[in-house]
Amino acid sequence: MNRLIVISNRVSAPTDSNSGAQGGLAVALSAALRENGGIWFGWSGEVTDKFDGHINFQRSAGVTSATIDLEAQDLEEYYNGYANRTLWPLFHYRIDLAEYEREFAGGYQRVNDRFADTVRPLIEGDDVVWIQDYHMFPLGEKLRERGCGNRIGFFLHIPWPPRRLLNTLPEAAELAKKMFAYDVIGFHTQEWLESFFDFAEKDLGATIHENGMVELGDRRVLALADPIGIDAKEFVEGANSPTARLAFRQMRDSAVGRDVIIGVDRLDYSKGLEERFRGYERFLDKHPEERKEVFLLQIAPPSRGTVESYQKIRSALEGLAGKINGAYADVDWVPIRYVNQGYPRDQLAGIYRAARVGLVTPLRDGMNLVAKEYVAAQDPDDPGVLVLSRFAGAAAQLGEGAVLINPYSAEEMSDAIVTALRMGREERIRRWRLMMDNVEKEDVIWWRKRFTDALMEEQTPAPLPEIS
Ligand code: G6P
Repeated sequence: MNRLIVISNRVSAPTDSNSGAQGGLAVALSAALRENGGIWFGWSGEVTDKFDGHINFQRSAGVTSATIDLEAQDLEEYYNGYANRTLWPLFHYRIDLAEYEREFAGGYQRVNDRFADTVRPLIEGDDVVWIQDYHMFPLGEKLRERGCGNRIGFFLHIPWPPRRLLNTLPEAAELAKKMFAYDVIGFHTQEWLESFFDFAEKDLGATIHENGMVELGDRRVLALADPIGIDAKEFVEGANSPTARLAFRQMRDSAVGRDVIIGVDRLDYSKGLEERFRGYERFLDKHPEERKEVFLLQIAPPSRGTVESYQKIRSALEGLAGKINGAYADVDWVPIRYVNQGYPRDQLAGIYRAARVGLVTPLRDGMNLVAKEYVAAQDPDDPGVLVLSRFAGAAAQLGEGAVLINPYSAEEMSDAIVTALRMGREERIRRWRLMMDNVEKEDVIWWRKRFTDALMEEQTPAPLPEIS
């Protein structure tokens, strides 16, 4: 098997996969690398005064990670700037929050050049290179410029926005053209893939072939939909571990007979947390009889805290949680437990299992692995109900079993909470089975294999089944 060189902004060694604060992507990549072996390259998370070309190598669980530090200005323009103030909001349909600054675009190119310079010598003979996410759109082209003839793939973990939104970015066409430096590019859903086709065809003049091959001049790239999954087996094992059992018992004890409604999200405006709180508030308002029977446990570890839009969403949520608790709480009951820290995965699995309802209601999300983790953590004989946003990539796979909602509607959110709380055991089991079958079948190994098979030219992936 060819060695795999995974490149992503954030690198977390496999042994760290239980830290709880990391996103689903990091968890998924650890599992992929554990399977293949190879090198995982990216940013160390550290800042240095002056970058001198030093690479930090570390080896654990069969995976070598190679990381570099970034200078403060790089971090500001590339990570806080172009990645998280320009691309992230734009690609999540929030052009009202997107900032188009030439400095950010310049810093982004500079850091991608730095990544290319440092990783290029690590790539050997028949290694295959797999670049992850929006921090690194231009890296494939930069590696080609440095003579890298290896197979190179790119995976986008966030949505590809509709062309009319993407065209608000001054260098939209330039950015999209970079996709043609790759051999294979992947998206989580058919919807994001089609948005890419649409842009490629209408704005770049590319030709789209039936099999997903996209041609622009003399360059061709295979584009495919490949939904990421979780390491289902490992997650279920974790959900049955002593740590999870303890967390489950403690959660149930502290709930004193009340139903737990849970949300677990990075503190990000794309997750629709304000809308979720408002939907829950509507539920409390419309259903006084349910008030002391439930509470919402919202776990939201802070994220990207140096970016202003994240500071704003954080204080908005504090205000809203305080307002709702102030309006409805009693001496023996608080409607929202709002927690700003992450938990290790096994502990989280126990907490998920103790929750009758899982709220995963982003306004827009490339996939959302919390939805899958919530499903995997459930007790097969007495599972909880997943309330899922139609606008999460996960809805394409879990839509039949979840209660689907439009997260912008407080009324739909409120109705869905009621439906979930009142759902009988048989119906819960029926819906859970549908979702769990998918979580088990289309897991992280299936995802990785679908992509790397195409990248290693072993197999062109079969089209995804039609979504009902
Ligand atoms: C999302 C992105 C990932 C990113 C993660 C955490 O899942 O798709 O690329 O690593 O969020 O965000 P952070 O900015 O902390 O890396």
